[in-house]
Amino acid sequence: KMGKYTVRVATGDLFLAGSLNLVQLWLVGEHGEADLGKQLRPAWGKVEEFKIDVPLHLGRLLMVKLRKHNVLLSVDWFCKWISVQGPGTQGEVFFPCYRWVQGHGIICLPEGTARTLSDDPQNLFKKYREQELEERRCTVRWGSWKDGLILPIAGNRQLDLPRDERFLEDKDLDFSVSLAKALKDMAIKGTLDFINCVKRLEDFKKIFPRGKTALAERVHDSWKNDAFFGYQFLNGANPMLLRHSSSLPARLVLPPGMEDLKTQLEKELQAGSLFEVDFSLLDGVKPNVIIFKPQYVAAPLVMLKLQPDGRLLPMVIQLQPPRYGCPPPLLFLPSDPPMAWLLAKTWVRSSDFQLHQLQSHLLRGHLIAEVIAVATMRSLPSLHPIYKNQLLIPHFRYTMAINTLARSRLVSEGGIFDLVVSTGSGGHVDILQRATACLTYRSLCPPDDLADRGLLGVKSSLYGQDAIRLWGIISRYVEGMVGLFYKSDQAVKDDLELQAWCREMTETGLQMAQDRGFPISLESRAQLCHFVTMCIFTCTGQHASNHLGQLDWYSWIPNGPGTMRKPPPISKDVTEKDIVDSLPNLHQAHMQKTVTDFLGRRQPVMVALGQHEEKYFSGPEPQAVLRQFQEELAAMDKGIEVRNAVLDLPYEYLRPSMVENSVTI
Ligand SMILES: [Fe+2]
Repeated sequence: KMGKYTVRVATGDLFLAGSLNLVQLWLVGEHGEADLGKQLRPAWGKVEEFKIDVPLHLGRLLMVKLRKHNVLLSVDWFCKWISVQGPGTQGEVFFPCYRWVQGHGIICLPEGTARTLSDDPQNLFKKYREQELEERRCTVRWGSWKDGLILPIAGNRQLDLPRDERFLEDKDLDFSVSLAKALKDMAIKGTLDFINCVKRLEDFKKIFPRGKTALAERVHDSWKNDAFFGYQFLNGANPMLLRHSSSLPARLVLPPGMEDLKTQLEKELQAGSLFEVDFSLLDGVKPNVIIFKPQYVAAPLVMLKLQPDGRLLPMVIQLQPPRYGCPPPLLFLPSDPPMAWLLAKTWVRSSDFQLHQLQSHLLRGHLIAEVIAVATMRSLPSLHPIYKNQLLIPHFRYTMAINTLARSRLVSEGGIFDLVVSTGSGGHVDILQRATACLTYRSLCPPDDLADRGLLGVKSSLYGQDAIRLWGIISRYVEGMVGLFYKSDQAVKDDLELQAWCREMTETGLQMAQDRGFPISLESRAQLCHFVTMCIFTCTGQHASNHLGQLDWYSWIPNGPGTMRKPPPISKDVTEKDIVDSLPNLHQAHMQKTVTDFLGRRQPVMVALGQHEEKYFSGPEPQAVLRQFQEELAAMDKGIEVRNAVLDLPYEYLRPSMVENSVTI
């Protein structure tokens, strides 16, 4: 009857991961439960092992329970995992933990194999799953930030977040130190700004960072070039707005004398090579007032033609939509006086900056990743195959923490947006609400999004090609994992936890997004795979492709001005000084540069896509699927390296080794 068990307990090597408190363990088997007594004091970075005799026949091991005893004070403990070897275990059985053990309540760690409810016909884990979800719904709660937006996690500060969601010490230290340094630099240089003023465009070199990227250098050299301007819509910081034109946009009213332009546009339209970028979403947004000075927002339209050599060239820019009862707005052309044409393009760059940061980056990257994270934590127990097996959990690391920081420093009242961006002080919330109202499921899935935007066959859309390839790799990985646990469409339909998860996301987190194509139930394996692939792509490729370009494209301020200080031009009589006076002043430019450097710099603490640190020990089959995923990512990485070597402008924002495993900055 007596059984001899060998128990190993691994403690994390993070700052203060060990605990002075004694930990008591229980083994729970299908036939009974054994108290092992107060056995250990977890030491930092160690794997402790002890042997113990159990006078009971436990049968197959289901769970380890643990409790931290607090004598005088409670010291948190970061437990990585517990393993047990004993009668009938066939080698070691793993009980993954990977979280902070706080307080003195009993914590259950189920054995590491993922299972759905129906994989557990005897209901051995049912009660545990329900309890775990009940607890998680208390610690991970939906909050609210502004009306008409998707929901965030509750809490305004890092300390409000569940302990496991806060930055660990390495990331926290790096974040605080570099932010402190950035602010100090700004305070010192800020005083110099009053002495140095900007008179010529080249004067922005004063704040052009010294350690800039090669591409940022190219931006400085080439930003006035039309092909370079067009290229940014394909492969720049914001590749999300360009669309193929299937007709001439209604807002493009051609005043008399523009017959040539009309002929050219129609010719490109016939040839299928006409494209457009429409910033109508910005129309009517209330501009910011910064230190008593009004700032300006426009809502341009750009028409472009795709050349056979892959270059995308602007044909015409309309800075504002037409207004009823007013003469049609002025159209700017490449043949205009160079400064007039440059000012029109600069307006487009500033409009692109607004939609890029708010719609493409903040909403479609950061905020949606947070909805996915919160919905998953609240509705899937840790044993669920979609939660564990590295499928979703690794893609949520630090997302709630960085978004909480963004809401309290970046887009908060009196935050960076209010201080230096033309849509700050409320306009930015308006833009987020408008962008949320037209956020579709298809737009988050590159095969659909690129098809809808007419970019699938466009060879010079490197973003498009890489996004499709990365989507394919992620979707094969998801299919591999899902195939291990769901043998039929019926199994998906019958999984009530999965259905509740999907509804929590669409109805609660995304605030009734079913009318924009988001599912409220999952009817088949294919539908489940598509949904999970969207989740992983959003937390990784979607964010990376809209985050990584900031440093390259916005370091040269005239190429990405966060604000404009003069109204859009109403004549073509424009001087260099008019452009300089429209662009951010040196102080604003400096602040923008500081924030761009801080957020855009390559992260020193970084896990690349698919390279999770934690192992959830989920058996050989899921491990093999993960290995296959990693191999495909490595091949894609190599492929991009080879391609980029012969390109004039390399595109690397979707290189798997550059793409972070989760939204962390
Ligand atoms: Fe970001």
